[in-house]
Amino acid sequence: MNIAVIGTGYVGLVTGTCFAETGNHVTCVDIDENKVNRLQNGEIPIYEPGLDTLFDRNTRQGRLTFTTNLAEGIKGAEIIFLALPTPPGEDGSADLSYVLGVAGDLSKIITEYTVIVDKSTVPVGTAEKVHALLAENLSESLFDVVSNPEFLREGVAVEDFMKPDRVVIGTESARAREVMGRLYEPFVRQGNPIYYMDERSAEMTKYAANSYLATRISFMNEIANLCERVGANVDMVRLGMGSDTRIGKRFLFPGVGYGGSCFPKDVQALAKTATEYGYDFNILNAVMGVNTKQKQILSQKIIAHFGGSLNGKTIAIWGLAFKPNTDDIREAPALTIIEELLEAGADIKAFDPEAMDNVKAVFGSRIQFVEEQYEALIGADALAVITEWPVFRSPSYKVLKELLSQPVIFDGRNIYDPKTMAAEGFYYDSIGRNT
Ligand code: UGA
Repeated sequence: MNIAVIGTGYVGLVTGTCFAETGNHVTCVDIDENKVNRLQNGEIPIYEPGLDTLFDRNTRQGRLTFTTNLAEGIKGAEIIFLALPTPPGEDGSADLSYVLGVAGDLSKIITEYTVIVDKSTVPVGTAEKVHALLAENLSESLFDVVSNPEFLREGVAVEDFMKPDRVVIGTESARAREVMGRLYEPFVRQGNPIYYMDERSAEMTKYAANSYLATRISFMNEIANLCERVGANVDMVRLGMGSDTRIGKRFLFPGVGYGGSCFPKDVQALAKTATEYGYDFNILNAVMGVNTKQKQILSQKIIAHFGGSLNGKTIAIWGLAFKPNTDDIREAPALTIIEELLEAGADIKAFDPEAMDNVKAVFGSRIQFVEEQYEALIGADALAVITEWPVFRSPSYKVLKELLSQPVIFDGRNIYDPKTMAAEGFYYDSIGRNT
């Protein structure tokens, strides 16, 4: 099939590349000339494991191409994906100007029947708005609008795309359902379902899924905080709870709060939608409040440990990205933690395997960056682990003790065993586990 993907951000690039991988011809369109040039030269602007192999293969074989010219990019496309940014506006609602702007442009250049797909996370009712805009200049027989939310996790996006738990296709048009079903057929060969539904339900599914996952995390963070107070161990509680198949084991890890470009934005946007419809979505307000507090937990523990001030103290930080296997620092807890530690007077030495350039752009020379994880520890008074990159999981305790000026570790992701740490002679504090 011939496909166009408008927007070469994270979602657009993964979507375009993975569709090319199943033999489709994909043209990715972006207004950013510099980005398109880089992509044409084989340079991928994001860090996503596994994407480079697919990208190289499909660009080499001519199935994946890039352009800044919208009319040229959509020529002959049976399906056009809109993978455009929907940043939160000042009031928390998603800004639809990019999506609606492109829909308006498309209405003037489409000449044959085309399926237009909302891939970005957009508020309930957006498919109808896109439809109305297209219909201003285009006969209704020439297009259908589909809501097809993505459920990709950064760091494992290629795997999530190639083997989705489910595909959600929101449209009541039988013709569009057939086209979309044909496109996704290679991805659901193992029997995973495609759910066909109306546009509004598809749009709502995306927000409901992300908000539910964020709720799980905030709930577990509160359980962890209570575990510390009552003398329980959240690791055990998590296992005990999670083995109930109604609850499930995944996504129950307490930590330093959720970050990233999705959960914070989507929870806020769903709460806003609820308000617009006159409904007070109480749980979501609590989820956001809990997360804001949780992002401060680790810095508060550190500041308290050193008696309320970090003047003259150096804190080593391992992990800056909002989670492992990405260079993404949007809404990353590390940013909040570093800001608080700096305010308390600390000097910071930070290391992350992929995200340091992005953090440099935020903090500049206010913190020191090191090229190797152990270098951060030299002369530091404590180590704070903020992102659970695999490379931090089995450190040499001997080297840690030699390099740190005090054997003090604050673990925001519970990656070390408290008993081992005590036996090794560390002062060790983590989340929801009494040490
Ligand atoms: C999330 C969803 O998981 C995807 O399904 C969705 O498609 C995506 O948002 C999106 O809307 O685009 P992502 O933001 O890449 O994916 O990251 P997650 O792996 O979901 O992690 C989000 C945050 O929750 C991270 O800060 C992570 O550290 C935190 N988290 C996750 C926990 O604190 N505990 C957990 O048990 C799991």
